[in-house]
Amino acid sequence: MCFEIRPSKLSDIGAAYQLDQISFEVDAWTMLDYAGVFSFPGVKKFTAIVDAKLVGFAAAEYDPQRKAVCLMTLAVDPQYRKKGIGFALLKQCEDAFPQKHFYLNVDIENQAAIRLYEKAGYQRTGIEPAYYRNGHDALIMEK
Ligand SMILES: CC(C)(COP(=O)(O)OP(=O)(O)OC[C@H]1O[C@@H](n2cnc3c(N)ncnc32)[C@H](O)[C@@H]1OP(=O)(O)O)[C@@H](O)C(=O)NCCC(=O)NCCS
Repeated sequence: MCFEIRPSKLSDIGAAYQLDQISFEVDAWTMLDYAGVFSFPGVKKFTAIVDAKLVGFAAAEYDPQRKAVCLMTLAVDPQYRKKGIGFALLKQCEDAFPQKHFYLNVDIENQAAIRLYEKAGYQRTGIEPAYYRNGHDALIMEK
């Protein structure tokens, strides 16, 4: 299966939002969140495409307070997972910034994502207790 990764376009917003809704059981972003992500010039966004369909989306921005790039979101269509798309989107986000310090929060029970980040070289550096609406802790990971 071939996939393409390209910078996101404003016309991706609806499909990216739909993907978010099916990817995150709790704390899915609202359309207002997506409007912000697609409006702020500092947010770098990437879309994975298979057969002209959006199958993955990732966004990241530099956080001047932490002096590190925050990986804001990453999701792949359930039908296209385990094919390297998530890893490729993550690398594309990293490559888009001159800064080379990255961080993210991930649900401590999300083994698929935690393994992906570990494969990409991220380390567990902290915990935010009860960070998610379902009461799960967030694991902070950094590279
Ligand atoms: C997490 C997610 C983005 C991974 O996307 P993906 O395209 O399936 O990931 P990849 O195929 O690139 O996998 C890369 C590595 O991640 C790990 N991984 C991915 N899915 C996994 C799973 N279900 N179980 C265990 N490890 C997994 C593996 O180490 C894999 O490497 P390998 O194929 O060499 O074993 C995807 O499962 C998803 O969209 N989940 C819902 C949204 C989400 O949780 N996003 C992360 C928020 S922090």
